[in-house]
Amino acid sequence: MALTDQLSGEDVKQLHEQYVFQSWGLAGSSAIPVQRAEGIYFWDYDGKRYADMSSLLVCSNLGHNNPELVAALKEQADKMCFMAPAYASAPKSLLAKMLVEVAGADFYQRVFFTNAGADANENAIKMARMVTGRSKILSCYRSYHGATLGASFASGDWRRFASEMGGEAPSFVHFMNPNMYEDGYTRGVDDEAVTAMCLHRLEEQICYENPDNIAAILMESIVGANGVILPPAGYMEGVRALCDKYGILMICDEVMAGFGRTGKMFAWQNFDIKPDLITFAKGVTCGYVPLGGVIASKAVSAYFEDHVLQCGLTYSGHTLACAVGVAALTYYREHKVCEHVKEMEGILKPFLEKMVEKHDCVGEARCIGLFAALTIVKDKKTRELMAPYHARESVMPQIIGELKRRGFSTFGRETNINVCPPLTITADELNEWLPVLDDVLGWADEKFCH
Ligand SMILES: Cc1ncc(COP(=O)(O)O)c(C=O)c1O
Repeated sequence: MALTDQLSGEDVKQLHEQYVFQSWGLAGSSAIPVQRAEGIYFWDYDGKRYADMSSLLVCSNLGHNNPELVAALKEQADKMCFMAPAYASAPKSLLAKMLVEVAGADFYQRVFFTNAGADANENAIKMARMVTGRSKILSCYRSYHGATLGASFASGDWRRFASEMGGEAPSFVHFMNPNMYEDGYTRGVDDEAVTAMCLHRLEEQICYENPDNIAAILMESIVGANGVILPPAGYMEGVRALCDKYGILMICDEVMAGFGRTGKMFAWQNFDIKPDLITFAKGVTCGYVPLGGVIASKAVSAYFEDHVLQCGLTYSGHTLACAVGVAALTYYREHKVCEHVKEMEGILKPFLEKMVEKHDCVGEARCIGLFAALTIVKDKKTRELMAPYHARESVMPQIIGELKRRGFSTFGRETNINVCPPLTITADELNEWLPVLDDVLGWADEKFCH
């Protein structure tokens, strides 16, 4: 019996508390010991079943222990687990080609593989600086790009604060991206005016920052962890136009929104834009083996034909990870995952809109594909948020905890509840679990709104 199989749930929990640093938490924090996972579910050691309604951290797009991905992993492990980046391997070569094709082989050319999302953004930033010879990176306040030092500096939410303890990061500049609900506008009605205003502000900021020293604008194609913030119509196209006007590269962070999540393989494909660099991770392997990377346009790729790419990682293009990536991309295509996501959106979106009508605590629902979030409010009329951005104390963990207690596992931040189940979820599974959310929102109405 494997050593790990000899541990009870209590052993796992205690060892975790004693020896593991908890991400974004206190050392010694308690964590549910999870024993196994399959499809949209995972189970703790007492046999309690959780429906994974956030795809963990929006990464298990193809569900847990998807047999096609597991088979690819086992098959590759038997042949060769790892080969250094200087060598070519079949999984790495093929996955790069598949990614370029999914992005559009008319415009994109090459892939630099990384270990995860943060270092994908780090390397995209380095590439943009090398290509343009400029240093500044503009990114949104309402954003998250990863927790390594550079990606942290680029991130806009509070998770960057610890990285700034040595002083403000030079050459990282933030701008406010629109959040229609929180800014007091109505999506679909005020889009044109808000888009014009935000783009005007951004152009002013570009000019005040010196456009000749701005290498890139880095944006999540659709802001994810900060609450699935859908940009007003024309906004992303306007940012692309500003990039073109000032010779700035546009980097779209697809780490969370990519790989079918919005019903398109990449979320930027919902807009009339083509970013110069696309960063990805999560759904490329659904986390079975960590993998990330940067897809570069033909123009950016051409630059590195006569300039050395000053980027490198021991595990770049990790063989096992790329083999899972090939299987995942094949799965997305052969099982028509994007079409399925659009069908499931037809259930999720109207349900969430109904929650806005029904519950005092739900201010707004945003949903594209299976990428959705609710904004939780104290007062719907004034749009007073349940927890404002700067709040030290929040009742949101109680609401997320109540969902989890009832087997509906998801995450929320500040004042949002994210609903992003595996893209393989069936209509029956959605219809089984969405009523749990409805019940908990009713519970929150009573507890926090009256
Ligand atoms: C949009 C976005 N970019 C980057 C990252 C960082 O990815 P990783 O945690 O794999 O480094 C995340 C993580 O959630 C993300 O949501």
